[in-house]
Amino acid sequence: MRFKLIVQISLITGIILLFTSALFGYFNISTLKQAFLKSAVSDLDHLSETIFRAVFHQMLENNRSQIQVTIGEMGKQQGIERIRILNREGMIAFSVITTEIGTILDKEKAPACMVCHNEEMTKETCFPLEDPSPLVRSRMFLDCNEKRVLGLIRPIYNEKTCWTGACHAHSKDTPLLGLLDITISANPMLSMVRNYRNNAIIQIIFLILSISLCLTLLTKRLIIQPVHALLEHTRAVGKGDWSLVESVPGDELGELAEAFNDMTGKLKTHQHKLEEWAATLETKVEKRTRKIKEMQSVLVRSEKLASLGELVAGIAHELNNPLTGIMIHASLLSSDPRLDEGLTEDCQTVIHEAARCSKIVKELLDFARVTDPQKEMQPVSKVIDKTIALIEHHVDFRDTEVIKDYDPDLPEILMDASQIEQVLINIMINASQAMLQGGELVLETGVNASRDRIYIRVKDTGCGIAAEDIEKLFDPFFSTKGHNGTGLGLSVSYGIIQSHGGEIEVESELGSGTVFTITLPI
Ligand SMILES: Nc1ncnc2c1ncn2[C@@H]1O[C@H](COP(=O)(O)OP(=O)(O)OP(=O)(O)O)[C@@H](O)[C@H]1O
Ligand SMILES: [Mg+2]
Repeated sequence: MRFKLIVQISLITGIILLFTSALFGYFNISTLKQAFLKSAVSDLDHLSETIFRAVFHQMLENNRSQIQVTIGEMGKQQGIERIRILNREGMIAFSVITTEIGTILDKEKAPACMVCHNEEMTKETCFPLEDPSPLVRSRMFLDCNEKRVLGLIRPIYNEKTCWTGACHAHSKDTPLLGLLDITISANPMLSMVRNYRNNAIIQIIFLILSISLCLTLLTKRLIIQPVHALLEHTRAVGKGDWSLVESVPGDELGELAEAFNDMTGKLKTHQHKLEEWAATLETKVEKRTRKIKEMQSVLVRSEKLASLGELVAGIAHELNNPLTGIMIHASLLSSDPRLDEGLTEDCQTVIHEAARCSKIVKELLDFARVTDPQKEMQPVSKVIDKTIALIEHHVDFRDTEVIKDYDPDLPEILMDASQIEQVLINIMINASQAMLQGGELVLETGVNASRDRIYIRVKDTGCGIAAEDIEKLFDPFFSTKGHNGTGLGLSVSYGIIQSHGGEIEVESELGSGTVFTITLPI
């Protein structure tokens, strides 16, 4: 494109320059030629007048030999080709070329005669005009040697001295007596014109070349380079490169470059906004999807718990009375003296297992009894401290070191303290059971970033939970503790936190420990 533009501009400029220069040169040279011709004709006219004056008296005296001598002498001057005097019949009376003396010229063909004897010129318009101009009397023609010559005729009029002279050679009524015909070489004048024309051509060529060169360089510097830079810039922007183009203010291309830079800046901002939007959109979608999944599982779990709760409540209630009967009768049986001593131990086993069943039934009833929480404003740290006091003497707590990390500015919140205590007991006992070999239990409280919830974090350094178990953690009866656990602790806790409008989350790494986080609305 750059090449094309330069070529176009150079070519068009060159053609215009060539055309105008040629036209200008042609008119100039033509004018000069005319001027040279006028000057040469004027010189020739002066010369003819001088010759005429020189031979005038000799003609009055009819001194023919002297006239011939004078003409011969005059004709020796450099540049004079021929001087001759013709009589009115067209006969050459005197001439520097003596051989032609006496010859009668053909008035139709001889250049000297054709000045007047041609189709345009009539006798009236030429002779006897008193003073036809020298230009009218001149003519340019090729002589017998094919040499370009300039000729001029000077009419010899019948003056008073001619018809009043002693010889009375001419009658008064004859206006024209003859012609003085002078021919000079046109070469000096023509070679001057040629020289001038050649010089003009050289100057024009030089002018065209230098103007074209200047225009090409200027076009390249002022138009092509900035346009090229803009082109490169546009391509770079297309590829996502937001660098700016160098702008030289002051001309339209500079303004264009500034507009381009402005546009690039705006495009860049919009692009970044779009990218940011796309990025946040992804995160937002991820967040929402996670939330929906969580809500789904919460819903499923709640439904499960609700239907299970009804079932469990019914069974537990029905089991409670027979179990009480078994325990009472087994106790009576064990204290009966009729009982065989060998059966006392079996009887104790029945009592112990029945007591265990009774405990399970009680827990089942706890789970099923979804009582509405009796909420009061309570300081969270006080509830945690009370829970620790309750369980720190538990057998599983022997090797557990409790570390408190409470937020001193934690606001009081609405809660049923005994229910939250129950939740904390479940979680803390689980933690201590996960680190029977000893470990740290960190209890941390704080307010979340949006300051609308408090959190209680229970971290242990126990055995951790396998990834596949985490999903089942809050399901009723999920336990890895065999006979030592019912698997109801966490499902009961889940129900309580939900009825408080809160959430319970777990993060765990097998072998490193587990973190339970309870959040409650402020
Ligand atoms: N901090 C913990 N570290 C490791 N595993 C845990 C932790 N907390 C809970 N678990 C796992 O979750 C299971 C379910 O706990 P959950 O409290 O519901 O029942 P449980 O403790 O087994 O029985 P229950 O509490 O009814 O006596 C546990 O059996 C245990 O495998
Ligand atoms: Mg438990």
